[in-house]
Amino acid sequence: MKPTETLKAEHRVIEQMLDLTEEAARRLAAGHPVTPALFERAADFFRNFADRCHHGKEEALLFVKLVEKGVPQDGGPVGVMLAEHDTGRAHVRAMSAAARRLATGEAAAAREVVEQALGFVALLRAHIQKEDQVLFPLADRILTTGEQAELEQAFDLVETEDMGEGEHERYHGMVHDVRQELRAAAGWRGFVR
Ligand SMILES: [Fe+2]
Ligand SMILES: [Fe+2]
Repeated sequence: MKPTETLKAEHRVIEQMLDLTEEAARRLAAGHPVTPALFERAADFFRNFADRCHHGKEEALLFVKLVEKGVPQDGGPVGVMLAEHDTGRAHVRAMSAAARRLATGEAAAAREVVEQALGFVALLRAHIQKEDQVLFPLADRILTTGEQAELEQAFDLVETEDMGEGEHERYHGMVHDVRQELRAAAGWRGFVR
Protein backbone atom coordinates (compact mmCIF):
# COMPACT_ATOMS: atom_id res chain seq x y z
CA MET A 1 0.00 0.00 0.00
CA LYS A 2 1.23 3.54 -0.77
CA PRO A 3 1.93 5.65 2.34
CA THR A 4 -0.83 8.08 1.35
CA GLU A 5 -3.27 5.15 1.07
CA THR A 6 -2.39 4.09 4.62
CA LEU A 7 -3.02 7.64 5.84
CA LYS A 8 -6.30 7.84 3.91
CA ALA A 9 -7.49 4.57 5.45
CA GLU A 10 -6.72 6.09 8.89
CA HIS A 11 -8.69 9.20 7.91
CA ARG A 12 -11.77 7.01 7.35
CA VAL A 13 -11.49 5.64 10.93
CA ILE A 14 -10.92 9.13 12.38
CA GLU A 15 -14.01 10.39 10.49
CA GLN A 16 -16.13 7.72 12.18
CA MET A 17 -15.09 9.04 15.60
CA LEU A 18 -15.69 12.63 14.40
CA ASP A 19 -19.27 11.68 13.42
CA LEU A 20 -19.86 10.10 16.83
CA THR A 21 -18.34 13.07 18.68
CA GLU A 22 -20.59 15.44 16.73
CA GLU A 23 -23.64 13.32 17.51
CA ALA A 24 -22.73 13.25 21.22
CA ALA A 25 -22.14 17.02 21.30
CA ARG A 26 -25.45 17.77 19.56
CA ARG A 27 -27.30 15.56 22.04
CA LEU A 28 -25.62 17.24 24.99
CA ALA A 29 -26.46 20.67 23.51
CA ALA A 30 -30.12 19.57 23.18
CA GLY A 31 -30.20 18.69 26.88
CA HIS A 32 -30.14 14.90 26.46
CA PRO A 33 -27.98 12.99 28.91
CA VAL A 34 -24.55 12.08 27.55
CA THR A 35 -21.93 10.73 29.95
CA PRO A 36 -18.85 12.98 30.23
CA ALA A 37 -16.78 9.77 30.04
CA LEU A 38 -17.82 9.40 26.40
CA PHE A 39 -16.03 12.67 25.55
CA GLU A 40 -13.00 11.52 27.55
CA ARG A 41 -12.86 8.33 25.50
CA ALA A 42 -13.16 10.32 22.28
CA ALA A 43 -10.32 12.56 23.55
CA ASP A 44 -8.20 9.46 24.25
CA PHE A 45 -8.82 8.27 20.68
CA PHE A 46 -8.00 11.67 19.17
CA ARG A 47 -4.87 12.08 21.33
CA ASN A 48 -3.46 8.67 20.62
CA PHE A 49 -4.80 7.27 17.38
CA ALA A 50 -5.35 10.55 15.50
CA ASP A 51 -2.49 12.58 16.97
CA ARG A 52 0.31 10.34 18.22
CA CYS A 53 -0.01 7.66 15.55
CA HIS A 54 -1.53 9.34 12.48
CA HIS A 55 -0.23 12.90 12.87
CA GLY A 56 3.04 11.38 14.05
CA LYS A 57 3.44 9.64 10.69
CA GLU A 58 2.58 12.85 8.87
CA GLU A 59 4.75 15.24 10.90
CA ALA A 60 7.85 13.11 11.49
CA LEU A 61 7.88 11.25 8.17
CA LEU A 62 5.69 12.33 5.24
CA PHE A 63 5.87 16.11 5.75
CA VAL A 64 9.63 15.98 6.40
CA LYS A 65 10.09 14.11 3.11
CA LEU A 66 7.91 16.60 1.24
CA VAL A 67 9.92 19.54 2.58
CA GLU A 68 13.13 17.71 1.57
CA LYS A 69 11.69 17.41 -1.92
CA GLY A 70 11.08 21.17 -2.11
CA VAL A 71 7.52 21.66 -0.84
CA PRO A 72 7.69 24.89 1.14
CA GLN A 73 6.98 24.56 4.86
CA ASP A 74 6.44 28.13 6.03
CA GLY A 75 3.52 29.70 4.22
CA GLY A 76 3.00 26.50 2.22
CA PRO A 77 0.65 23.53 2.56
CA VAL A 78 2.87 21.72 5.09
CA GLY A 79 2.92 24.75 7.40
CA VAL A 80 -0.88 25.01 7.20
CA MET A 81 -1.30 21.32 8.07
CA LEU A 82 1.10 21.63 11.06
CA ALA A 83 -0.74 24.69 12.37
CA GLU A 84 -4.06 22.85 12.08
CA HIS A 85 -2.67 19.86 14.02
CA ASP A 86 -1.78 22.32 16.82
CA THR A 87 -5.21 23.97 16.81
CA GLY A 88 -6.75 20.49 16.96
CA ARG A 89 -4.62 19.58 20.00
CA ALA A 90 -5.85 22.69 21.82
CA HIS A 91 -9.50 21.77 21.07
CA VAL A 92 -9.02 18.20 22.37
CA ARG A 93 -7.28 19.44 25.54
CA ALA A 94 -10.08 21.93 26.21
CA MET A 95 -12.84 19.39 25.42
CA SER A 96 -11.28 16.86 27.78
CA ALA A 97 -10.78 19.41 30.59
CA ALA A 98 -14.40 20.57 30.27
CA ALA A 99 -15.63 16.94 30.25
CA ARG A 100 -13.77 16.37 33.53
CA ARG A 101 -15.44 19.46 35.06
CA LEU A 102 -18.82 18.21 33.83
CA ALA A 103 -18.14 14.84 35.45
CA THR A 104 -17.62 16.52 38.83
CA GLY A 105 -21.06 18.10 38.59
CA GLU A 106 -20.26 21.48 37.02
CA ALA A 107 -23.27 21.62 34.67
CA ALA A 108 -22.08 24.86 33.04
CA ALA A 109 -19.08 23.00 31.58
CA ALA A 110 -21.43 21.23 29.14
CA ARG A 111 -21.45 24.28 26.92
CA GLU A 112 -17.65 24.30 26.71
CA VAL A 113 -17.62 20.56 25.92
CA VAL A 114 -20.06 21.17 23.05
CA GLU A 115 -18.18 24.18 21.67
CA GLN A 116 -14.78 22.50 21.76
CA ALA A 117 -16.10 19.22 20.37
CA LEU A 118 -17.89 20.88 17.44
CA GLY A 119 -14.93 23.19 16.78
CA PHE A 120 -12.61 20.21 16.62
CA VAL A 121 -14.94 18.17 14.39
CA ALA A 122 -15.25 21.00 11.86
CA LEU A 123 -11.51 21.70 11.87
CA LEU A 124 -10.42 18.09 11.44
CA ARG A 125 -12.99 17.26 8.75
CA ALA A 126 -11.77 20.18 6.62
CA HIS A 127 -8.13 19.29 7.40
CA ILE A 128 -8.62 15.69 6.26
CA GLN A 129 -10.27 16.90 3.04
CA LYS A 130 -7.29 19.15 2.25
CA GLU A 131 -4.86 16.29 2.80
CA ASP A 132 -6.89 13.79 0.78
CA GLN A 133 -7.56 16.15 -2.11
CA VAL A 134 -4.48 18.37 -2.29
CA LEU A 135 -1.47 17.29 -0.23
CA PHE A 136 -1.59 13.52 -0.77
CA PRO A 137 -2.03 13.72 -4.57
CA LEU A 138 0.96 16.11 -4.55
CA ALA A 139 2.97 13.57 -2.49
CA ASP A 140 2.02 10.77 -4.91
CA ARG A 141 3.32 12.88 -7.80
CA ILE A 142 6.64 14.00 -6.33
CA LEU A 143 7.79 10.97 -4.31
CA THR A 144 9.53 8.20 -6.21
CA THR A 145 8.39 4.58 -5.81
CA GLY A 146 11.51 3.91 -3.70
CA GLU A 147 10.81 6.89 -1.40
CA GLN A 148 7.22 5.73 -1.00
CA ALA A 149 8.37 2.22 -0.05
CA GLU A 150 10.78 3.66 2.54
CA LEU A 151 8.00 5.76 4.06
CA GLU A 152 5.70 2.78 4.23
CA GLN A 153 8.36 0.82 6.13
CA ALA A 154 8.87 3.72 8.52
CA PHE A 155 5.08 3.84 9.07
CA ASP A 156 5.14 0.15 10.03
CA LEU A 157 7.81 0.92 12.65
CA VAL A 158 5.59 3.63 14.18
CA GLU A 159 2.89 0.97 14.52
CA THR A 160 5.05 -1.67 16.16
CA GLU A 161 7.54 0.43 18.14
CA ASP A 162 5.87 3.74 19.05
CA MET A 163 2.31 2.50 19.36
CA GLY A 164 2.89 -1.12 20.31
CA GLU A 165 1.40 -4.30 18.91
CA GLY A 166 -2.40 -4.39 18.97
CA GLU A 167 -2.90 -0.67 19.76
CA HIS A 168 -4.44 0.05 16.36
CA GLU A 169 -7.02 -2.66 16.92
CA ARG A 170 -7.77 -1.25 20.36
CA TYR A 171 -8.62 2.15 18.84
CA HIS A 172 -10.81 0.54 16.16
CA GLY A 173 -12.60 -1.21 19.02
CA MET A 174 -13.03 2.12 20.79
CA VAL A 175 -14.97 3.56 17.81
CA HIS A 176 -17.26 0.52 18.01
CA ASP A 177 -17.77 0.90 21.78
CA VAL A 178 -18.56 4.62 21.60
CA ARG A 179 -21.08 3.91 18.81
CA GLN A 180 -22.75 1.19 20.90
CA GLU A 181 -22.93 3.47 23.93
CA LEU A 182 -24.54 6.28 21.91
CA ARG A 183 -27.02 3.88 20.32
CA ALA A 184 -27.99 2.44 23.69
CA ALA A 185 -28.44 5.93 25.18
CA ALA A 186 -30.51 7.11 22.20
CA GLY A 187 -33.19 4.45 22.74
CA TRP A 188 -36.19 5.25 20.60
CA ARG A 189 -35.24 8.92 20.25
CA GLY A 190 -32.83 8.54 17.42
CA PHE A 191 -30.35 6.40 15.68
CA VAL A 192 -26.62 6.49 15.18
CA ARG A 193 -24.97 5.47 11.93
FE1 LIG B 1 -2.86 16.00 9.22
FE1 LIG C 1 -4.11 13.21 8.17
